[in-house]
Order: sequence, then C-alpha cells, then structure tokens
Amino acid sequence: MSAPNSQYDPVEVTPLHPDELARMRDDAVAAIRAAADLTRLKQIKVEHTGDRSPLALANREIGALPPQARKDAGQRIGAVRKEVTHAIQARQEELEAERDARVLLEETVDVTLPWDRTPPGARHPLSTIQERVGDVFVSMGWEIAEGPEAEAEWLNFDALNIGPDHPARTMQDTFFVESEQSGVVLRTHTSPVQARTMLSRTPPIYVVCPGRTFRTDELDATHTPVFSQVEGLAVDEGITMAHLKGTLDHFASSMFGEGITTRLRPSYFPFTEPSAEMDLQCFVCRGASVGNPDRPCRTCSSEGWIEWGGCGMVNPRVLIACGIDPDRYTGFAFGMGLERTLMFRHGIADMHDMVEGDIRFTTAFGMEI
Ligand code: PHE
Repeated sequence: MSAPNSQYDPVEVTPLHPDELARMRDDAVAAIRAAADLTRLKQIKVEHTGDRSPLALANREIGALPPQARKDAGQRIGAVRKEVTHAIQARQEELEAERDARVLLEETVDVTLPWDRTPPGARHPLSTIQERVGDVFVSMGWEIAEGPEAEAEWLNFDALNIGPDHPARTMQDTFFVESEQSGVVLRTHTSPVQARTMLSRTPPIYVVCPGRTFRTDELDATHTPVFSQVEGLAVDEGITMAHLKGTLDHFASSMFGEGITTRLRPSYFPFTEPSAEMDLQCFVCRGASVGNPDRPCRTCSSEGWIEWGGCGMVNPRVLIACGIDPDRYTGFAFGMGLERTLMFRHGIADMHDMVEGDIRFTTAFGMEI
C-alpha cells in the first residue's frame, strides 16, 4: 500500500478546482433563480445539493486529499454550499410569498355576498299533521302504536272479520307482495294495527296509529296508491258508543277549532258492529251555508258537513280473534285518511301537490315542528 501523497495539490483534482466549484455554484444559482414554482425548486435542490449532486461528488474527493490540503478544499466547498443553500432559501421565500398572495386572491371570500338566500327546507304537512294527531291523543293519555307496511294478509283481513270472499281481497284493490299466495300484502288500511295491538297487549288499550297505507288506485286529483291514515282503538271495560262520540268530538275540536263536532251515520265495516261513517262539522261555515245561497261554502260545498272517516264498536268476532274476552271488554275504533284531512283543512285541490314533493308546496305550510 502506498503512502499518502503529501505533495498532492487539491487544485489539480478537477472537481475541487475553484473555477469548477464556481461553475457548479453558478449553475446551481441560475437554476434556482429560474425555478418557476416550489415543486421545481425542490427538484433543483435535489439536483444541486443532493447525494448525487456535483457538489456532493466533489466533497467526496476531499477524502482522497493529503490531510494538509483537506481544510482548504473543505472550506471552498463549504462556502459554495452555503451560497447555494442561501439561494435556495431566498427563492423559496419568494415563491412562498407569491403563492400566498395568489391563494389570497384565488380563495377570496366575498363577505358582501348575500348570506340568506339558501332556502330553508320544510317538513311535509303529512308528517306534521301525523304528529299533531299524535299530540292530541298523547295529551289524553293514549299511546302511539305502529305496525309494518308489508303486513300479514291474516292481520289485514281475516283477523278483522274480512272473509276470504270479500271484494277488497282481490288484486284490483290490494297490492300483494310477490304472489297472491305469499300471505303478505301492503296494508290497505291501518286497522291491522288494531289486531296487532290487541294480540300483544291486555286491556285497557288506548292507542292511535298514524301510518302509510296502499291500494291499487291510479294517481289522480283525489286518489293516490300510497296514502296515509290514522287509526284509533280503545278497549276497556264498559266502553260505549258515547265514548266514541266524545273522543271524536274532542279530536275534531282540537284539530279544527273550538266547538267543532262530528256526526255519525249508520254504515258497515266487517270489523265494527255497529259501524258508522263519521262527518266533521264544516269548520269554515259551521253549517251557516246550508240552504243559504248568499253564503256558499267551498270547503263543504254548502253541505255543512265533510266526510271524514269510518268508525264503530269493535266487532266481538275481532275481539275473540285477538284473544280478548268480549263478555268483559268492549271497544271502539275509528280511522280516517290524512291526505283528505289535509285537503279540506288547507283547501288543497289536487292530490298531485301532496305526492310530488315540490318544495314550493311544502314551504307554504311553514316550519311547524
Ligand atoms: N279501516 C277503515 C277504512 O280503511 C276505516 C275504519 C277504521 C272504519 C276503524 C272503522 C273503524 O276504510
């Protein structure tokens, strides 16, 4: 192994020659100054100061120098590196300042823009009326009951004394799920919740059930295949039709105004006996338009009464089917359509408005919570 060459002149090692180092510095500084953005500057930094940069390679040559030459060469490289680093730093600051200025401009928020033009959403009046109905009954100590929309055919019909030959049980009226043999239908009324409630609870029972119901009607001004009803059911000892009438009158006046009453007309439902159609006293003219051509009423067509729903005393056959002793308990039930209720309550002429989901219709009802 040969001894170190103490005569070795660093100036002779080309990469360490001052001119060469100056050239590296000038190359680096020129590239740095020309860097158009921060990404480019980063690349240039790697090219000119990284492990494979000419400066780094030159630095490695120092080790090959005789000890007395190393200091000088080291200082020369150190000085060049310092200049390059400063140039990078300076360009970096310039580019960052430019970027910040640009971002401030590009992302300017115009605080003078109107802030209140985003229309607020609105709840559908069907939702709010369901809650309003619920509130009326909950305030009397009743409970809200629920049932599924896809319902067992037995609960929708048989348990309610609607026999297999009843016309409602045809495909013309009822949506069957999968096949007519499936035993599952989209409930055609909320009355199966009566059956569910009686099967799962023991009297006294006082429940209301607002919910969605389905029949195979075409959508037109007064029909929709998906509609809503509210059902009421009371089963207790000694319940009479007088309780039914009193409850309906209270319901009517809570919803339509103090003093508004109801009227019952004999009718037929398989699940109630006796049964009645229930009319609501016209809450606009309160009957004053009847026989009075000077004061016609659009809400009730000058009839004084508006058809509202069906009701009656729970048929003992239904009580038995649901495991309740008809000798001990009696009950009443009622049910009405909520779309219809909304239509006459708010003078809505066309069912389409209620199902189309146009926010302009919904917002007209305000934000009732
Ligand atoms: N379920 C009946 C209907 O849809 C309404 C009703 C409910 C009648 C409760 C009487 C008792 O028409």
